[in-house]
Amino acid sequence: MTEITNIEDLRRIARKRIPRAIFDYVDSGAYDEITLNANRSELASIRFRQRVLIDTSKRTMETELLGEKLAMPLAIAPTGLTGLVHGNGEILAAKAAEAAGSIYTLSTMSICTIEDVAAAIKKPFWFQLYVFRDREFSKSVIARAKAAKCSALFVTVDLPIRGQRHPDIKNGLTVPPRLTARNVFDIVTKPAWTMKVLMGKRKSFGNVEAYLKKTPGLLGAGAWANNHFDQSLNWRDIDWIRGLWPGKLVLKGINDVDDAKTAASAGVDGIVVSNHGGRQLDGAPATATTLPEIASAVGDRLEVLFDGGIRSGQDVLKALALGARGCLIGRAYLYGLAAMGEKGVATALDVIRKELDASMILTGVKDIRKVDERILYRPAITN
Ligand code: FNR
Repeated sequence: MTEITNIEDLRRIARKRIPRAIFDYVDSGAYDEITLNANRSELASIRFRQRVLIDTSKRTMETELLGEKLAMPLAIAPTGLTGLVHGNGEILAAKAAEAAGSIYTLSTMSICTIEDVAAAIKKPFWFQLYVFRDREFSKSVIARAKAAKCSALFVTVDLPIRGQRHPDIKNGLTVPPRLTARNVFDIVTKPAWTMKVLMGKRKSFGNVEAYLKKTPGLLGAGAWANNHFDQSLNWRDIDWIRGLWPGKLVLKGINDVDDAKTAASAGVDGIVVSNHGGRQLDGAPATATTLPEIASAVGDRLEVLFDGGIRSGQDVLKALALGARGCLIGRAYLYGLAAMGEKGVATALDVIRKELDASMILTGVKDIRKVDERILYRPAITN
């Protein structure tokens, strides 16, 4: 196998190892993928100032996010269906994050349950909540996250309906799934994936099944969730959640400065500037575009986290320079998980950590917590 030197290498291996329907589910974005692509191109267009002759021999990338001391300003984003990307995917990713001094966020729509992850690691993890019309589900899942000692609750607010991804429909990755000749061929030619998923602890949406107290299987639980996204969700519900959750509360999916200001007034502890990795509103601005305005409006009142398009340590450093306190990665870790399981997630985190370290040296940064826009190159305007 060729040496893995960046996240793209993991992506290439992932594509070969897992069925196409699952790879496309991870890789693609909503509709015409304008926002998906903008997340990447906007980060890529940012330039650093190349600074020299600064003693960076003693430097640190340690930080604190939502009360958790981390070895680097990087966390794993919540992603659904992770246990189908690799058998026991959620457990493996949580372990890799813990070992790397990062932190894992478990999705409501995970395959492994909250309790499965809690049993596998020692340090706290974070839990992401989708609020469904059935509010009893929210109550019960919040209570379970509390019992599992999750140290922050991320309420995802940018998914009152699922954005459409064309490949998922074409690949039959729908509820119910369509079994196409290509699907079947694809699965029989990926025996290692099939074995690991079949031998995994669970094969359905674990958290939903535990609530429904029956085993409707992937289809039944998926259909239940699909029919339960709540379009009436509004700011008053955030107060209701606040009442149920005494710990750190974060709104994930803020991409507009007015919403960020309302979030700050609502007294939440943090926001994730996010457009769901370009999987929801196609045509929404890239998160790197909205971040500076949002961070300067509310950064002194709550913790501003960032996601969308992070594929390297350079990207992390850019987001911090634009005002984020830390970043989440979605696809970057999923490519690693698909390629090589726990080792692949560890590799993804290590690749990004090394790139971040080198970029700190080359921009003259000694303390990651002190990074600001002065490390970015802004050409002087003369006319
Ligand atoms: C997601 N995301 C997501 N977000 C969330 O709050 N709950 C979820 O269940 C999921 N599921 C999910 C599945 C997959 C396959 C992806 C790629 C993403 C969004 C995720 O948390 C994050 O916002 C984006 O992934 C960030 O963009 P990048 O890092 O993937 O570019």
